Amino acid sequence: MKTKIGVLSAGGDCAGINSAIHWLVYSALDKDLVPLRGIMFKVIGILDGWRGLIEVKPDKKASLARWTMGLTLDVVRTWDRYGGTRLGTTRINPFDPEDDRSDLIIENCTKLGLEGLVVIGGPNSLSVAYKLYKKGLKVIGIPKTIDRDLAATDYTLGFDSALNCITQDIDRLRITAGSHSRIFVVECMGRHAGWLALEGGEASGADIILIPEHDFVMERVTELLSMRRKAGERYSIVLVSEGAKPRGMEPILERRGKDGFGHYYLGGVGGFIAEEIQKSLGMEVRYVALRHLQRGGSPTAYDRRMGRKFGVAAVDMIVGEDFGRMVALKQGQVASVPLKKALEKLNLVDVEKYYNTKNYKTFDQIV
Ligand code: F6P
Repeated sequence: MKTKIGVLSAGGDCAGINSAIHWLVYSALDKDLVPLRGIMFKVIGILDGWRGLIEVKPDKKASLARWTMGLTLDVVRTWDRYGGTRLGTTRINPFDPEDDRSDLIIENCTKLGLEGLVVIGGPNSLSVAYKLYKKGLKVIGIPKTIDRDLAATDYTLGFDSALNCITQDIDRLRITAGSHSRIFVVECMGRHAGWLALEGGEASGADIILIPEHDFVMERVTELLSMRRKAGERYSIVLVSEGAKPRGMEPILERRGKDGFGHYYLGGVGGFIAEEIQKSLGMEVRYVALRHLQRGGSPTAYDRRMGRKFGVAAVDMIVGEDFGRMVALKQGQVASVPLKKALEKLNLVDVEKYYNTKNYKTFDQIV
Protein backbone atom coordinates (compact mmCIF):
# COMPACT_ATOMS: atom_id res chain seq x y z
CA MET A 1 0.00 0.00 0.00
CA LYS A 2 1.29 3.47 -0.89
CA THR A 3 0.64 6.27 1.61
CA LYS A 4 1.44 9.94 1.24
CA ILE A 5 1.91 11.90 4.44
CA GLY A 6 2.64 15.56 5.10
CA VAL A 7 4.67 17.31 7.78
CA LEU A 8 4.70 20.96 8.78
CA SER A 9 6.05 23.15 11.54
CA ALA A 10 3.93 26.03 12.86
CA GLY A 11 4.34 28.76 15.49
CA GLY A 12 7.70 29.90 16.85
CA ASP A 13 10.73 28.07 15.48
CA CYS A 14 13.19 26.33 17.76
CA ALA A 15 16.11 23.92 17.71
CA GLY A 16 15.09 20.26 17.39
CA ILE A 17 12.38 20.64 14.74
CA ASN A 18 14.72 19.72 11.90
CA SER A 19 15.92 16.72 13.82
CA ALA A 20 12.30 15.52 14.20
CA ILE A 21 11.74 15.96 10.45
CA HIS A 22 15.00 14.18 9.60
CA TRP A 23 14.12 11.13 11.69
CA LEU A 24 10.48 11.11 10.67
CA VAL A 25 11.60 10.87 7.04
CA TYR A 26 14.29 8.29 7.83
CA SER A 27 11.79 6.11 9.62
CA ALA A 28 9.00 6.54 7.06
CA LEU A 29 11.31 5.74 4.15
CA ASP A 30 13.14 2.87 5.83
CA LYS A 31 13.01 0.12 3.18
CA ASP A 32 13.49 -2.66 5.75
CA LEU A 33 10.26 -1.67 7.47
CA VAL A 34 8.08 -1.77 4.34
CA PRO A 35 7.26 -5.51 4.52
CA LEU A 36 6.61 -5.26 8.25
CA ARG A 37 4.33 -2.25 7.94
CA GLY A 38 2.85 -3.14 4.61
CA ILE A 39 3.12 0.55 3.74
CA MET A 40 5.35 2.44 1.33
CA PHE A 41 5.45 6.04 2.52
CA LYS A 42 5.98 9.20 0.54
CA VAL A 43 6.66 12.30 2.65
CA ILE A 44 5.77 15.84 1.65
CA GLY A 45 6.98 18.87 3.59
CA ILE A 46 4.51 21.76 3.75
CA LEU A 47 6.30 25.11 3.72
CA ASP A 48 5.68 27.99 6.12
CA GLY A 49 3.29 26.13 8.42
CA TRP A 50 -0.47 26.55 7.98
CA ARG A 51 0.20 29.22 5.40
CA GLY A 52 1.49 26.58 3.00
CA LEU A 53 -1.75 24.61 3.25
CA ILE A 54 -3.82 27.76 2.74
CA GLU A 55 -1.87 29.16 -0.20
CA VAL A 56 -1.08 25.99 -2.12
CA LYS A 57 -2.96 25.30 -5.35
CA PRO A 58 -2.48 21.53 -5.58
CA ASP A 59 -3.29 21.39 -9.29
CA LYS A 60 -0.65 24.02 -10.21
CA LYS A 61 2.94 22.83 -10.53
CA ALA A 62 4.50 26.18 -9.69
CA SER A 63 2.35 26.56 -6.59
CA LEU A 64 3.21 23.04 -5.46
CA ALA A 65 6.88 23.87 -5.85
CA ARG A 66 6.43 27.09 -3.85
CA TRP A 67 4.46 25.63 -0.94
CA THR A 68 5.51 21.98 -0.71
CA MET A 69 8.71 20.00 -0.88
CA GLY A 70 9.29 16.29 -1.45
CA LEU A 71 11.26 14.96 1.52
CA THR A 72 13.67 12.18 0.67
CA LEU A 73 16.60 10.75 2.61
CA ASP A 74 18.92 12.84 0.48
CA VAL A 75 17.01 16.07 1.11
CA VAL A 76 16.91 15.76 4.90
CA ARG A 77 20.27 14.00 5.36
CA THR A 78 21.99 16.84 7.24
CA TRP A 79 18.93 18.57 8.72
CA ASP A 80 19.20 17.01 12.18
CA ARG A 81 22.14 19.21 13.15
CA TYR A 82 20.60 22.58 12.26
CA GLY A 83 18.44 24.86 14.40
CA GLY A 84 15.24 26.56 13.32
CA THR A 85 13.01 24.85 10.79
CA ARG A 86 14.02 24.10 7.22
CA LEU A 87 10.32 23.93 6.30
CA GLY A 88 9.72 27.48 7.47
CA THR A 89 6.94 28.56 9.82
CA THR A 90 4.30 31.24 10.41
CA ARG A 91 1.99 32.21 13.23
CA ILE A 92 -1.17 32.15 11.10
CA ASN A 93 -4.39 31.04 12.79
CA PRO A 94 -6.54 29.21 10.22
CA PHE A 95 -9.52 29.43 12.62
CA ASP A 96 -9.37 33.21 12.80
CA PRO A 97 -13.05 34.08 13.43
CA GLU A 98 -12.86 36.86 10.85
CA ASP A 99 -11.19 34.72 8.19
CA ASP A 100 -11.71 31.01 8.77
CA ARG A 101 -9.54 28.99 6.35
CA SER A 102 -9.94 25.59 7.97
CA ASP A 103 -12.18 24.13 5.21
CA LEU A 104 -9.65 25.20 2.60
CA ILE A 105 -6.89 23.42 4.52
CA ILE A 106 -8.91 20.20 4.62
CA GLU A 107 -9.74 20.52 0.93
CA ASN A 108 -6.08 21.09 0.04
CA CYS A 109 -4.92 18.14 2.12
CA THR A 110 -7.40 15.94 0.23
CA LYS A 111 -6.26 17.33 -3.12
CA LEU A 112 -2.63 16.74 -2.13
CA GLY A 113 -3.58 13.14 -1.35
CA LEU A 114 -2.35 13.34 2.25
CA GLU A 115 -3.43 10.43 4.39
CA GLY A 116 -1.84 11.81 7.50
CA LEU A 117 -0.46 15.17 8.60
CA VAL A 118 2.22 15.55 11.25
CA VAL A 119 2.10 18.95 12.93
CA ILE A 120 5.18 20.05 14.86
CA GLY A 121 3.85 22.77 17.12
CA GLY A 122 3.24 24.32 20.50
CA PRO A 123 -0.10 24.94 22.24
CA ASN A 124 -1.51 27.26 19.55
CA SER A 125 -0.54 25.24 16.49
CA LEU A 126 -1.57 21.98 18.11
CA SER A 127 -4.93 23.46 19.05
CA VAL A 128 -5.39 24.17 15.33
CA ALA A 129 -4.35 20.57 14.60
CA TYR A 130 -6.89 19.30 17.10
CA LYS A 131 -9.71 21.39 15.63
CA LEU A 132 -8.83 20.12 12.15
CA TYR A 133 -8.82 16.58 13.50
CA LYS A 134 -12.33 17.13 14.80
CA LYS A 135 -13.28 18.21 11.29
CA GLY A 136 -11.93 14.94 9.87
CA LEU A 137 -8.22 15.54 9.17
CA LYS A 138 -5.89 12.74 10.24
CA VAL A 139 -3.35 14.58 12.36
CA ILE A 140 -0.53 13.62 14.70
CA GLY A 141 1.17 16.22 16.90
CA ILE A 142 4.83 16.56 17.83
CA PRO A 143 5.39 18.94 20.79
CA LYS A 144 7.83 21.79 20.34
CA THR A 145 8.18 25.09 22.15
CA ILE A 146 11.02 26.63 24.09
CA ASP A 147 8.39 27.55 26.72
CA ARG A 148 7.78 23.85 27.62
CA ASP A 149 4.24 24.83 28.53
CA LEU A 150 2.36 21.99 26.83
CA ALA A 151 0.63 19.68 29.28
CA ALA A 152 0.71 15.86 29.08
CA THR A 153 4.37 15.73 28.05
CA ASP A 154 7.52 16.13 30.11
CA TYR A 155 9.38 17.60 27.14
CA THR A 156 8.83 19.90 24.20
CA LEU A 157 11.52 20.25 21.50
CA GLY A 158 13.65 23.35 21.74
CA PHE A 159 13.57 23.80 25.51
CA ASP A 160 17.00 22.34 26.23
CA SER A 161 18.72 24.30 23.46
CA ALA A 162 17.14 27.55 24.69
CA LEU A 163 18.16 26.69 28.24
CA ASN A 164 21.76 26.17 27.17
CA CYS A 165 21.71 29.46 25.34
CA ILE A 166 20.48 31.31 28.46
CA THR A 167 23.13 29.61 30.56
CA GLN A 168 25.96 30.46 28.18
CA ASP A 169 24.80 34.06 27.78
CA ILE A 170 24.69 34.53 31.54
CA ASP A 171 28.20 33.07 31.78
CA ARG A 172 29.29 35.79 29.36
CA LEU A 173 27.48 38.52 31.25
CA ARG A 174 29.09 37.47 34.53
CA ILE A 175 32.48 38.45 33.15
CA THR A 176 31.52 42.03 32.37
CA ALA A 177 29.22 42.28 35.42
CA GLY A 178 32.13 41.31 37.68
CA SER A 179 34.59 43.64 36.00
CA HIS A 180 32.31 46.65 36.49
CA SER A 181 30.62 45.62 39.77
CA ARG A 182 27.24 45.95 38.13
CA ILE A 183 23.85 44.38 38.50
CA PHE A 184 22.58 42.69 35.35
CA VAL A 185 18.89 42.13 34.75
CA VAL A 186 18.51 39.42 32.10
CA GLU A 187 15.11 38.85 30.52
CA CYS A 188 14.32 35.49 28.97
CA MET A 189 11.29 34.19 27.06
CA GLY A 190 8.71 31.67 28.18
CA ARG A 191 5.42 33.53 27.79
CA HIS A 192 3.21 32.51 30.76
CA ALA A 193 5.51 29.69 31.89
CA GLY A 194 8.55 30.28 34.08
CA TRP A 195 10.44 27.09 33.20
CA LEU A 196 13.14 28.79 31.13
CA ALA A 197 13.81 31.35 33.86
CA LEU A 198 13.67 28.81 36.68
CA GLU A 199 15.87 26.19 35.07
CA GLY A 200 18.06 28.75 33.30
CA GLY A 201 18.56 30.37 36.71
CA GLU A 202 19.38 27.01 38.27
CA ALA A 203 21.91 26.20 35.56
CA SER A 204 23.60 29.59 35.55
CA GLY A 205 23.37 30.28 39.28
CA ALA A 206 21.33 33.48 38.86
CA ASP A 207 20.97 35.29 42.20
CA ILE A 208 17.32 36.22 41.76
CA ILE A 209 14.82 34.43 39.54
CA LEU A 210 11.46 35.98 38.72
CA ILE A 211 8.73 33.88 37.11
CA PRO A 212 5.20 34.60 35.81
CA GLU A 213 3.61 32.13 38.22
CA HIS A 214 4.48 34.28 41.24
CA ASP A 215 4.09 38.06 41.27
CA PHE A 216 7.19 39.65 42.77
CA VAL A 217 7.46 42.61 45.12
CA MET A 218 9.94 45.19 43.81
CA GLU A 219 11.05 46.24 47.31
CA ARG A 220 11.96 42.63 48.10
CA VAL A 221 14.07 42.43 44.95
CA THR A 222 16.01 45.55 45.92
CA GLU A 223 16.30 44.33 49.51
CA LEU A 224 17.82 41.02 48.35
CA LEU A 225 20.24 42.88 46.09
CA SER A 226 21.40 45.28 48.78
CA MET A 227 21.90 42.34 51.15
CA ARG A 228 24.17 40.78 48.55
CA ARG A 229 26.10 44.03 48.16
CA LYS A 230 26.51 44.33 51.94
CA ALA A 231 27.76 40.73 52.06
CA GLY A 232 30.57 41.81 49.71
CA GLU A 233 29.29 40.43 46.41
CA ARG A 234 30.66 42.48 43.52
CA TYR A 235 27.78 41.86 41.17
CA SER A 236 24.37 40.20 40.89
CA ILE A 237 22.38 38.53 38.15
CA VAL A 238 18.60 38.87 38.13
CA LEU A 239 16.96 36.50 35.63
CA VAL A 240 13.38 37.48 34.82
CA SER A 241 10.90 35.72 32.61
CA GLU A 242 9.16 37.99 30.09
CA GLY A 243 5.77 37.11 31.65
CA ALA A 244 6.75 37.92 35.26
CA LYS A 245 5.13 40.98 36.81
CA PRO A 246 5.32 43.05 39.96
CA ARG A 247 2.46 42.46 42.38
CA GLY A 248 -0.55 44.62 41.54
CA MET A 249 0.60 45.36 37.99
CA GLU A 250 -0.29 43.94 34.59
CA PRO A 251 2.35 42.06 32.55
CA ILE A 252 4.56 44.39 30.52
CA LEU A 253 3.80 44.15 26.81
CA GLU A 254 5.79 44.89 23.72
CA ARG A 255 4.48 47.60 21.45
CA ARG A 256 3.93 45.31 18.47
CA GLY A 257 0.47 44.14 19.60
CA LYS A 258 -0.99 40.64 19.25
CA ASP A 259 -0.11 37.51 17.30
CA GLY A 260 -2.55 35.58 15.07
CA PHE A 261 -3.99 33.82 18.12
CA GLY A 262 -4.81 37.02 19.96
CA HIS A 263 -1.90 36.79 22.41
CA TYR A 264 -0.09 40.00 23.25
CA TYR A 265 3.67 39.90 22.81
CA LEU A 266 5.41 40.13 26.17
CA GLY A 267 8.65 41.98 26.77
CA GLY A 268 10.22 44.82 28.67
CA VAL A 269 9.76 43.77 32.30
CA GLY A 270 13.55 43.54 32.64
CA GLY A 271 13.90 47.19 31.67
CA PHE A 272 11.31 48.18 34.24
CA ILE A 273 13.12 46.22 36.97
CA ALA A 274 16.50 47.69 36.01
CA GLU A 275 15.14 51.25 36.29
CA GLU A 276 13.53 50.54 39.66
CA ILE A 277 16.77 49.06 41.03
CA GLN A 278 18.78 52.03 39.79
CA LYS A 279 16.29 54.48 41.32
CA SER A 280 16.08 52.85 44.71
CA LEU A 281 19.65 51.59 45.23
CA GLY A 282 21.63 53.93 43.05
CA MET A 283 23.71 50.98 41.89
CA GLU A 284 24.86 50.61 38.31
CA VAL A 285 22.41 48.35 36.50
CA ARG A 286 22.31 47.02 32.95
CA TYR A 287 19.40 45.27 31.23
CA VAL A 288 19.77 42.57 28.56
CA ALA A 289 16.79 40.95 26.84
CA LEU A 290 17.89 37.69 25.28
CA ARG A 291 14.82 37.57 23.03
CA HIS A 292 15.21 35.49 19.88
CA LEU A 293 18.85 34.65 20.58
CA GLN A 294 17.37 31.92 22.75
CA ARG A 295 15.66 30.34 19.76
CA GLY A 296 18.70 30.36 17.49
CA GLY A 297 21.76 28.15 17.26
CA SER A 298 22.12 24.43 16.74
CA PRO A 299 20.15 21.89 18.75
CA THR A 300 21.78 20.39 21.80
CA ALA A 301 22.39 16.65 21.91
CA TYR A 302 19.22 16.31 23.99
CA ASP A 303 17.08 18.13 21.42
CA ARG A 304 18.55 16.03 18.62
CA ARG A 305 17.77 12.84 20.55
CA MET A 306 14.27 13.95 21.43
CA GLY A 307 13.66 15.09 17.85
CA ARG A 308 14.71 11.63 16.73
CA LYS A 309 12.47 9.85 19.19
CA PHE A 310 9.47 12.09 18.48
CA GLY A 311 9.91 11.87 14.70
CA VAL A 312 10.11 8.07 14.70
CA ALA A 313 7.16 7.81 17.11
CA ALA A 314 5.02 10.02 14.86
CA VAL A 315 5.49 7.56 11.98
CA ASP A 316 4.65 4.64 14.26
CA MET A 317 1.47 6.45 15.25
CA ILE A 318 0.50 6.92 11.61
CA VAL A 319 1.09 3.22 11.01
CA GLY A 320 -1.08 2.45 14.06
CA GLU A 321 -3.70 5.01 12.88
CA ASP A 322 -3.38 6.76 16.23
CA PHE A 323 -4.71 10.04 14.89
CA GLY A 324 -5.79 13.01 17.02
CA ARG A 325 -2.92 12.30 19.37
CA MET A 326 0.44 13.83 20.24
CA VAL A 327 3.81 12.21 20.80
CA ALA A 328 4.89 12.79 24.40
CA LEU A 329 7.68 12.07 26.82
CA LYS A 330 6.37 10.55 30.04
CA GLN A 331 8.81 9.60 32.79
CA GLY A 332 11.61 9.00 30.33
CA GLN A 333 9.50 6.95 27.92
CA VAL A 334 8.10 8.02 24.57
CA ALA A 335 4.32 7.78 24.68
CA SER A 336 1.25 9.00 22.85
CA VAL A 337 -1.44 11.17 24.46
CA PRO A 338 -4.71 12.58 23.14
CA LEU A 339 -4.21 16.08 21.73
CA LYS A 340 -7.24 17.12 23.77
CA LYS A 341 -5.40 16.23 26.98
CA ALA A 342 -2.27 18.12 25.95
CA LEU A 343 -4.32 21.24 25.35
CA GLU A 344 -6.56 21.23 28.42
CA LYS A 345 -4.30 23.51 30.40
CA LEU A 346 -0.83 25.03 30.22
CA ASN A 347 2.05 23.34 31.98
CA LEU A 348 3.13 26.05 34.42
CA VAL A 349 5.63 26.03 37.30
CA ASP A 350 4.14 24.58 40.47
CA VAL A 351 5.27 27.37 42.80
CA GLU A 352 4.74 25.42 45.99
CA LYS A 353 6.94 22.60 44.74
CA TYR A 354 9.69 24.41 42.89
CA TYR A 355 9.93 28.07 43.83
CA ASN A 356 11.15 29.86 46.92
CA THR A 357 8.76 32.83 47.13
CA LYS A 358 10.79 34.45 49.93
CA ASN A 359 14.16 34.63 48.24
CA TYR A 360 13.00 34.41 44.62
CA LYS A 361 15.02 31.33 43.90
CA THR A 362 14.62 27.68 43.12
CA PHE A 363 14.27 25.11 45.91
CA ASP A 364 17.47 23.16 46.22
CA GLN A 365 16.64 21.04 49.26
CA ILE A 366 15.81 17.35 49.10
CA VAL A 367 12.15 16.74 49.90
O1 F6P B 1 6.31 30.53 22.29
C1 F6P B 1 7.66 30.68 22.02
C2 F6P B 1 8.08 32.11 22.15
O2 F6P B 1 9.47 32.17 21.91
C3 F6P B 1 7.72 32.80 23.45
O3 F6P B 1 8.60 32.47 24.51
C4 F6P B 1 7.75 34.25 23.06
O4 F6P B 1 6.93 35.02 23.89
C5 F6P B 1 7.22 34.23 21.64
O5 F6P B 1 7.43 32.91 21.16
C6 F6P B 1 7.85 35.22 20.70
O6 F6P B 1 7.20 35.12 19.48
P1 F6P B 1 7.74 35.68 18.09
O7 F6P B 1 8.82 34.75 17.61
O8 F6P B 1 6.55 35.66 17.21
O9 F6P B 1 8.28 37.04 18.33
